Amino acid sequence: DIPSVSDELLQAIRTIPDYPKPGILFRDITTLLGNARAFRRAVDALVQPWAGSKVEQIAGIEARGFILGGAVAHQLSAGFVPIRKKGKLPWQTVSVAYSLEYGLDEIEMHSDAINPGDKVIVVDDLIATGGTAEAACKLLRGQGAEIVAACFIVDLPDLGGRQRLEAMGVPVRTLLSFP
Ligand code: PRP
Ligand code: ADE
Repeated sequence: DIPSVSDELLQAIRTIPDYPKPGILFRDITTLLGNARAFRRAVDALVQPWAGSKVEQIAGIEARGFILGGAVAHQLSAGFVPIRKKGKLPWQTVSVAYSLEYGLDEIEMHSDAINPGDKVIVVDDLIATGGTAEAACKLLRGQGAEIVAACFIVDLPDLGGRQRLEAMGVPVRTLLSFP
């Protein structure tokens, strides 16, 4: 059998039980990032629907979305906008609070990072409850972005993140899912 791309990516991800809290099965993509072939395949697969189309900005979500988002921005010849945890950005920011599978947090971006009408793709490693990505989409839309899609390597479908983004009209692309 020839392994499919998603099998190859699935096998490149390490699962750590009870991190960062008891009961959480943490899906660790550092093993995928350290595997040159898997990293390239993941980035290629993420951008494939938008190859050759005009996208002004990639918005990457701290921290793992920075690594993937930078590579995606390069491949699509787009700019990169960092969406960061509160208190990390030096200029004027807009922010949104959100809840996570394992806690509460607040993210922000620079208020001048987006020009109204910019086509933007949101990138992160994983979607769980969708709280983080939903907050990112709200921030971006608040600055006039047109969100083309949100893409992730990993989907945790039981947590409903995809439906949450689709309910706000954001198309979602994921490469593999863990039940
Ligand atoms: C993880 C992951 C996503 C988010 C997904 O990041 O990288 O950003 O959780 O969860 P959600 O869909 O339930 O919102 P985390 O908050 O652990 O931050 P980190 O990347 O800085 O470690
Ligand atoms: N972010 C939210 N839930 C997660 C999980 N189970 N593994 C990795 N990152 C996550």
